[in-house]
Amino acid sequence: MGIVGAGPAGLLLARQLHASGIDCVVLESRDRSYVERRQRAGILEQSTVDALRSVGAADRLEREALPHDGIELRFSRRSFRLDFPSLTGGRRVWVYAQTEMVKDLVALQLKEGPPLLFEARALAVEGANTDNPVIRYTRSGREHTLSCDWVVGCDGYHGVTRHGLPRGVLRTYERGHPYAWLGVLAEAPPAYEELVYAHSERGFALASMRSPQVSRLYLQVPNGTDPEDWPDDRVWDELDARLAPHGGWRLHRGPITARSVLPMRSSVTEPMAHGRVFLAGDAAHIVPPTGAKGLNLAAADVTVLGRAFSHLNVTGSTRLLDTYSATCLRRVWRAEHFSNLMTSLLHRDPDQSAFATRLQLAQLERLATSPHAAAEFAAQYTGLPVEAE
Ligand code: APR
Ligand code: PHB
Repeated sequence: MGIVGAGPAGLLLARQLHASGIDCVVLESRDRSYVERRQRAGILEQSTVDALRSVGAADRLEREALPHDGIELRFSRRSFRLDFPSLTGGRRVWVYAQTEMVKDLVALQLKEGPPLLFEARALAVEGANTDNPVIRYTRSGREHTLSCDWVVGCDGYHGVTRHGLPRGVLRTYERGHPYAWLGVLAEAPPAYEELVYAHSERGFALASMRSPQVSRLYLQVPNGTDPEDWPDDRVWDELDARLAPHGGWRLHRGPITARSVLPMRSSVTEPMAHGRVFLAGDAAHIVPPTGAKGLNLAAADVTVLGRAFSHLNVTGSTRLLDTYSATCLRRVWRAEHFSNLMTSLLHRDPDQSAFATRLQLAQLERLATSPHAAAEFAAQYTGLPVEAE
């Protein structure tokens, strides 16, 4: 099995295949330091935690992850908390940075296998319709060919795997958004127990965290924003203005140690499999970050795929491999819908009408006052169990 990409999808899949006794190799174009330091997501659904536990990769997570039973939504002088356990029959989410999850998986793989080759850039995947697809890659200035029984592209939105499938096989559905996120990491203890999502006349803001000492914060900004145009004081002032426009509440401030602008996009490539080549995670789909679904969708994909390869290994049947794409796409489109709904509910389009703003406020008021609306939102946010076989 050849896996392209050592992000959460590739690394978790490698652990699952290793546990099933299935040989695989992971090719990663960047070096270990880059892969482990990339600032990305921070919220794990229960099914993702369960997947990590099932492959023995959750020891540090069990010690350090922060269980969260709710979030706070703020809008026009209103503030309300969504309590997950009471709305979902006991579900919660976990705050544990993607960087930490990746470090745990990399350490485990380097210790126990399977092979993880850094600075190995896949050039192309060929032979998807044959019994032996190959990955051509470069490493240490030389070109190599990895002959496989199966190939899984876990190489993200900018990866090469999906381009190796025959023309006309894939169809990609895409949507842009008229804004982006400025994300910052700050050495400042969060002034809040749970995540705070704010709808404000100045635009969206999110107060998240990485630990009791480190805040992770986001501001809606125009596409094309240069992070260097946002010095620390401007970031803190804008966050306070959006999170508490009427005063009375202020963030704890501290040095900002990382800042970047995240593009906002929605994209789904169908099908997620062709011949002996599969796609998983960001290689197949991108969601707006608002609903914290990207990492959890990647974990769900490879949970389904790992289960399918194990089934093949034990029974010789490709039944679960044959249904992999349809199984995952049901969850992907549900997550796309929720992430786009949450994004359009909380963000302010550059030319948004007053009518559109009133519609947003009506929906937020509905969430604050209707247990039915709140329960549906909480069910989507905490994530539904990965589909059984
Ligand atoms: N050859 C080898 N590796 C590659 C290539 C290539 N040609 N192209 C990309 N890669 C690697 C990238 O360097 C990256 O490490 O594939 C990996 C893809 O990882 P992610 O982009 O993290 O995608 P995924 O594993 O699906 O995880 C999804 O990451 O992007 C976030 O928000 C997203 O939280 C979600 C999660
Ligand atoms: C994060 O902490 O990175 C995060 C949390 C919740 C979101 C998005 C990002 O909805």
